[in-house]
Order: sequence, then C-alpha cells, then structure tokens
Amino acid sequence: MREQLLAAEKVKAIEWRDGALHLLDQRVLPFEETWHAYHSAAAVAEAIRAMVVRGAPAIGISAAYGVVLGVRVRMAEGGDWRAALEADFQVLADSRPTAVNLFWALNRMRERLQRLKVDENPIMALEAEAIGIHQSDREANLTMAQLGVDLIRKHQGNLQNLLTHCNTGALATGGFGTALGVIRAAYLDGLVERVYADETRPWLQGSRLTAWELANEGIPVSLNADSAAAHLMKTRGITWVIVGADRITANGDVANKIGTYQLAVNAMHHGVRFMVVAPSSTIDMALESGDDIPIEERDGRELLELNGQRVAAGVEAVNPVFDVTPADLIDFIVTEKGVVERPDTAKMTQLMCRKRLH
Ligand code: MRU
Repeated sequence: MREQLLAAEKVKAIEWRDGALHLLDQRVLPFEETWHAYHSAAAVAEAIRAMVVRGAPAIGISAAYGVVLGVRVRMAEGGDWRAALEADFQVLADSRPTAVNLFWALNRMRERLQRLKVDENPIMALEAEAIGIHQSDREANLTMAQLGVDLIRKHQGNLQNLLTHCNTGALATGGFGTALGVIRAAYLDGLVERVYADETRPWLQGSRLTAWELANEGIPVSLNADSAAAHLMKTRGITWVIVGADRITANGDVANKIGTYQLAVNAMHHGVRFMVVAPSSTIDMALESGDDIPIEERDGRELLELNGQRVAAGVEAVNPVFDVTPADLIDFIVTEKGVVERPDTAKMTQLMCRKRLH
C-alpha cells in the first residue's frame, strides 16, 4: 500500500526550499493554485491564523519551520537571539488554539534548542528537526492508511460507501492525509464505491478541498450539505464515517471540525462505524477529557456573509469551529502506534507507551 500511495501522490501543501517556507494558499483553492513564500516566524503565524495553511498536522509542521525562520532572523539581528526567539514561539503559539499538533511541534523545537551542543549550528540543527517532524508525519499517515484499510476489510469486506467531514488530506498534513489517507488507500485497495464529503460549513473545507483532492485522483465523490448526513446514512448504505482530529484527550474524547459530534451521534443511531484517524502528535495526555479543550471561535462574518455578501440581518452569529465527540461514540482511533477500539483512559495510556509501528 505504501508504494501505491507514494505513486498516486499528487498534492502537496507545504514545501521547505531555498531557506523559505512555501505554502499553497488553501483560501483560494480549488480555482487558483497560488503559492506564497514565508521568511519569518510572524509571517508563518499570520498564515496559520488566516488559514492559508490549515489542518492540525499541517499547522504543526508549518510552525516548526516558522521556528527555523525565527532562529535565522534572530541570529542575524545579533544580541541575545535565544531571548528574542521567545517572541517567535509566542506568536506561533497564539496563531490558533485547538489543534494540539501546533503546541506539540513547538515543544519539539524548543527541546531541540535546549539540546544544542556548543559546536552545533543552531539553524542547521533546527532545520533538521523541522524536516524530521514533516517526514515523520508523512510516514505516520502511510502507516495509518494501512491500519485503517485493514479495519475496513476486517469489518466489511465489500465495496463501501464512506462519509467524511472537513479536509484531512494531503492539504491538511505532511502528505497523503489522515482520514483521507485511509480513504485513498481503501480506494486503491478496491474497497470504495463512493465517498460522501460533507461541505463543512462555514469555511467549506469539504467543498473546496476534500472534493478537489478526491476528484483529482478519480475517486468517486459526492458533495453533500452537512445537514444531509443523517439522511444519507439512512438511505445510501453508508458503512463508515471516517474523520480526523485536532486534539484527542487522555480519555479518548476527540475535538474535530464543528459538525463531527453530530455525525458520531447519527452514526451510532444508524449502526454506521465511526473511525478517527490521527497521528499521536494529536493526542494530548495532559488533558483528562474533551471538556478541557479550548475551542476556537472565529469571526461571525463567516456565517453572516457569503462571498462578502450579507445573508443575515439584525443578528449576532456564534461560530465555534470545533466540537468534541465523546469517546463512547467512537469505534476506533487509528494512530501510527496502533489502533484503539472503543477508547478509554486505560487504552489511551497503553497506546501512548507503545513505539511507532514503522
Ligand atoms: O479549521 P481547520 O480547517 O484547520 O480544521 C481542520 C480539521 O478539523 C481537520 O479535520 C483536522 O485538523 C484533522 S486534519 C488531518
């Protein structure tokens, strides 16, 4: 499967070349493929905040490269560059609150900084660390793709109708995707009849990104309104809901794009299996349960306007962009360390003690 996925790879959203971070602008897809180059930590933080780059692993990877840029700029400025770098860590940490991959990547970069030897070049050492974070995310996705396909095959062998939410693909990660990586692999394995992609209000990650990624590869995909999901589960023979995650807590609760929770409730009602696919960098064992996860609220204009045109008058909008699916609605959490069935604190603790499978 690894070779098949590598051969089929078409989309990349993050490139580190010529000492700069290059990001595919996800705000203008699918109609424009525009790349921007970033040369400072503050510029990378702004790209994350503005959602030029989005998706939990992708923002973690971008932040890691942001630290490399910060080190280069601060060293060139002279003086106490380590002290000055703290502002860069802060601006990157403040860019978005929910996906823990961002903080995980910043911690890894900070630890590497603390382990620097006197004769090491800080820029080269941190660049290697960021590239390592990027590469290992790609590897984790390849491992999870195989594990996810094995689950689908084991539980339902024939052609499947799958439903997914938000964008969890190559655009949201270091490559291939988490949930979308499993879906890609299932298609390559001949297991997919059709993928139903929730449009994912209000930012439309499903319409603009997931449908584009799948259609580009000839994977049969139908776009649906988020509110059609229960009806589709009832009438279209959907067997699996497969989603990613932004933060998974110690008890197995999962924060993901707003709308995921209601999918899980509906999946349980209709006997549809519910799979969450996320690398261990998305797991936050420091938080006991999903109640502790900070949920990002974005500008109400994302709801009050469509393409800059006002569509509601005289109201305020409430726009939480993530929700928490309780662990007891989840059948499987697939990570690169292995699969947890019916997650709880004991199983999550055991999982985190394991080594990666690759
Ligand atoms: O607001 P976004 O687009 O960053 O939200 C992304 C999601 O919710 C994804 O489902 C999640 O990050 C998993 S991506 C592999």
